[in-house]
Amino acid sequence: MPSAQIPAPARTNWYPYLVSTVAAVSGLLFGFDIAVINGAIIFLRQQFGLSEVQTEIAAGSLLIGCVFGAAAAGWLSDRYGRRRILIFSALLFAASALGAALPRNLDEFVVARFIGGLAVGAASVLAPLYIAEVSPPQIRGRLVALNQMTIVTGILLAYLVNWSLSFAGPSGWRWMFAAAAVPAIAFFIALFFVPESPRWLVERGMESVALGVLSRVSGAARAREEIQEIKEAIAQESGTLAELFQPGMRRALAIGVALAILQQITGINTVLFYGSVIFKERVGGQTESAAIGANVFIGLVNFLATIVALWIIDRTGRRPLLMFSAGVMAVCQLALGAAFLIQPPPAMLVLSIMLALLGAFAVGLGPGVWVVLSEIFPTRVRGRAMSIATVSLWIACVALTMTFLSLAKAITISGAFWLYGFWCVVMYVIVWRFTPETKGKTLEEIEKLWRRA
Ligand code: BGC
Repeated sequence: MPSAQIPAPARTNWYPYLVSTVAAVSGLLFGFDIAVINGAIIFLRQQFGLSEVQTEIAAGSLLIGCVFGAAAAGWLSDRYGRRRILIFSALLFAASALGAALPRNLDEFVVARFIGGLAVGAASVLAPLYIAEVSPPQIRGRLVALNQMTIVTGILLAYLVNWSLSFAGPSGWRWMFAAAAVPAIAFFIALFFVPESPRWLVERGMESVALGVLSRVSGAARAREEIQEIKEAIAQESGTLAELFQPGMRRALAIGVALAILQQITGINTVLFYGSVIFKERVGGQTESAAIGANVFIGLVNFLATIVALWIIDRTGRRPLLMFSAGVMAVCQLALGAAFLIQPPPAMLVLSIMLALLGAFAVGLGPGVWVVLSEIFPTRVRGRAMSIATVSLWIACVALTMTFLSLAKAITISGAFWLYGFWCVVMYVIVWRFTPETKGKTLEEIEKLWRRA
């Protein structure tokens, strides 16, 4: 059935929202875990007397874990199911929260954070993928974007927890990490109440269970049609990774990997991870608390703009949002670079441009890239394909965050922002010229687009 004819359900069916919300709790842990280190690292350095290199290891151990977690998750979930691996990741989240709160030395801390990274990496692949596989097409964009909503909520919570615990004395940092155990355990328990992905079930020959799940999502009549469509699509898939390198699919993979890398090298995490440092060291007359306060503002705009994205992504479609976002970000990066040519750079000007940059990212590239990644690969290899794209994303994230300060030294901070601006333009072109619109189509229809290509 062509997408335009898929009828919208007469009244709101809350089931897919509920199931997606459970999966999206992992986004909360994702956001919290990547952002909590910003505040904690100051205290950790004092407690363990860390050198510069040791500080980088302490801060980077989570991100390295993300690369491995994302790499393993796809393959494991194609084999053992999406839900089972999500449950396993919930256990890792909880173990890491406690482990990072209780270490006696740097080594123990690094191991605990690496384990947390495995969980973040795995969840970053599986939550969007699982949500896409259980969602009806009319609201799939919104439901996958829900995961981004929880990521930005996690980031904001981490900033707030850090700020409030920064008054709690030298052991306050331990509570910063321990705080994540609560949502991790809640996530673990809630996962027992959600179903396995219907697409994975069909692929494994468990059609009647899949029918039960789809009936709750889309109604009994539509569910039967969907099962048929899923079966037809799967029949055309070889299920081997070689399939991804066949002509049409090769294009899907190339676009997925490009979008993933560009989401990072357009530079948003320099602001999110180094916001306070930039303000403290590069903008004149800033106290530490003013710099941290500016960060909370940034987290808030990120949060609010994501709500807008959630609301409109299924109406406007993915392409217009991504293009708007990349275009405005390019202008902001250009302006940010220019603002740093003024000496000293005016604080309000820098903050306003950063807020606009964040708003533009959060309304498009932030949720949009994850949505497209969860939609464009065929069912039998979706897990593995999404792993490849997500691993690229995390490697780009590590590369960006590890090079920002030295890049700013080598080509000036203005040069660094202009370089990120250039990548925004590349992002715009790749979406405009190569990325298909996936709004309102079933995953099976999207798959057909590539086979025709
Ligand atoms: C990105 C993260 C980023 C976050 C910020 C996500 O979509 O993948 O790297 O930190 O958005 O909101």
